[in-house]
Amino acid sequence: MKIPLARPVINEEMIEAAVNALQNEKLVLGESVFKFEEEFAKYFGVKYAVSVNSGNTALLFAFQALGVDGASEVIGPSATFIATMNGAVLLGADPVFADIDMNTYTIDPEDVKKKITEKTKVIVPVHLYGYPADMEKLMEISEETGIPILEDCAQAHGAEYRGKKVGTFGEVAIFSFYPTKNMTVGGDGGMVITNNEEIAELVKKLRDNGRKSKNTHDIIGHTARLNTVNAAIGRVQLKYLDEWNEKRRKIASIYDKILDTLDEVVTPPKPSSSIKPVYHLYVIRVPENKRNLLGAWLEKNGIQTAVHYPIPIHLQPAYARFGYKEGDLPITEKWAKTVLSIPMFVEMTKDQAKYVGEKIYEFFDKRVYENNKELEKEAQQWIKRLM
Ligand SMILES: Cc1ncc(COP(=O)(O)O)c(C=O)c1O
Repeated sequence: MKIPLARPVINEEMIEAAVNALQNEKLVLGESVFKFEEEFAKYFGVKYAVSVNSGNTALLFAFQALGVDGASEVIGPSATFIATMNGAVLLGADPVFADIDMNTYTIDPEDVKKKITEKTKVIVPVHLYGYPADMEKLMEISEETGIPILEDCAQAHGAEYRGKKVGTFGEVAIFSFYPTKNMTVGGDGGMVITNNEEIAELVKKLRDNGRKSKNTHDIIGHTARLNTVNAAIGRVQLKYLDEWNEKRRKIASIYDKILDTLDEVVTPPKPSSSIKPVYHLYVIRVPENKRNLLGAWLEKNGIQTAVHYPIPIHLQPAYARFGYKEGDLPITEKWAKTVLSIPMFVEMTKDQAKYVGEKIYEFFDKRVYENNKELEKEAQQWIKRLM
């Protein structure tokens, strides 16, 4: 059996929609783009959705719209994909990293409070892996301090916190449609959602060369629009999102059943009355000295895994000038050494999920890692390839 970590769904309906857009619409800012935005806004119950060419761009524009500049500090987690903070840094801001809550893998509101200064311009929580951050506490902080929240929902399309979709709490939220995400546009793409008209209008200009009207440009902008063909695919994907998220939760429950019996494996947060995760990834935590061995063991058995993410942002070479060092964020650093993402995709079968679960069970139950020089060597290669 060969089981990939992730696999997007591209069906006939999506292919037809793409071909139709290609043959009948303007290729840039065609009708599908505006329809996709309208439908996306409706799905979230917000006034505005503005599409762009990636989640990274969506973050950059959202930070700019919130006034982030060279005099700002932005507080966010380091336990996330590097793009979460890149937009703020590109605008000249200083990144300020708060540690995470190891139970939810999301930013710890208590640590956020400690890191607020007069320069803090934005707080950017990430609903990492599709598990919601503690929005109640974060919104309290935002209301008390007046600092706006930008929700990074790149991995959390449709996830809910206390019955409300993540992305509808903060002043603005962003999404990514990178192919492995819970929904894609058949390539790169992103979306900014907000109820704030000024933010929406500014993002529309920023994506379109700062265009005020056909040949008048009143700000410096980018060419960063979502292509029409991609939007046409996104419209079809959005129709399936809820059904697909339900399938992901089913796979997660199969994993939970097998893995919760193992003392050395911590399974991700489960659906409850307060959260409804969408399992963009199913991420387990295992003892540090066994993580790479388990990754290598699963690979040997035809199962692809990954680490999201082996190097937290504060320790990335690109962030060296900000002076962070090992030990600054102890929980985040432990997270990077102990997490392992196992296969999770919509079309995964129950048998595939059981097989993955059983192979993990076997690894711990039969102690396959003990005195296993060959596996040790493979583990070293495995982690090297992930770097
Ligand atoms: C948490 C997070 N933020 C931002 C991004 C950036 O999105 P994109 O890859 O569409 O630029 C990603 C995607 O990879 C992500 O996982």
